[in-house]
Amino acid sequence: LLAGPDGRPLAGRTAVVTAGPTFEPIDPVRGLTNRSSGKQGYAIAEALAALGAKVTLVSGPVALSAPVGVERVWVETARDMQAAVKAAFPADIAVMSAAVADWRVDGVASGKIKKAPGGPPSLSLIENPDILAGVSKPGKDRPTLVVGFAAETTDLEANALAKLSRKGCDWIVGNDVSDDVFGADGNAVTLFTRDGADSWPRQSKTEVARKLAARIADHFKA
Ligand code: CTP
Ligand code: CA
Repeated sequence: LLAGPDGRPLAGRTAVVTAGPTFEPIDPVRGLTNRSSGKQGYAIAEALAALGAKVTLVSGPVALSAPVGVERVWVETARDMQAAVKAAFPADIAVMSAAVADWRVDGVASGKIKKAPGGPPSLSLIENPDILAGVSKPGKDRPTLVVGFAAETTDLEANALAKLSRKGCDWIVGNDVSDDVFGADGNAVTLFTRDGADSWPRQSKTEVARKLAARIADHFKA
């Protein structure tokens, strides 16, 4: 099979992409979040759509417009993101590029917490579900290809390979976030598959997305 019904390599395929940060409320006016502009994930959604895939983009709060032809679902918390991903299944391809907050506040205050003479409040945190690990679990809804990201400041290869096996995804995009990635237009990544690693020189997030989408298309062609 060289191409789908409309001649593009991913025509007839469906994809779910997560992007951006999640936001975990502390009270009605405050929250915990991660650094993420969403640029890389949005570019991946756009690149997959350009190759013909039907793409659902599950996005945390970012200041980006949805790529043309991509269905965007807005979410705030990690648990909302997990539910939206499940609702978008079944899908052939899942690319989990979101910077999911690892923890949320246990017992979100219903009213604004006021500064008080007693000092700052203590926050009790609980771990969020791992969306990528859940999606990677064998089962009838598991996408054919599950791609995760690993954002690392040190030991990129060791950390990325550990995540690949711990989470059970098929590929992992190792992202060196030690310098100038957040909000930037460029990115330096290494793609780890079960067959080896492929390091790409620093290039635009659009170019990273095109390369990744092309690799995904090759995978479905094979
Ligand atoms: N991820 C997820 N759900 C979470 C946390 C992470 O789906 N609750 C996904 C991210 O979207 C990414 C991958 O898992 O594709 C790796 O995220 P990362 O933060 O690098 O890894 P963690 O397993 O959370 O480990 P740590 O933050 O301790 O490095
Ligand atoms: Ca994390």
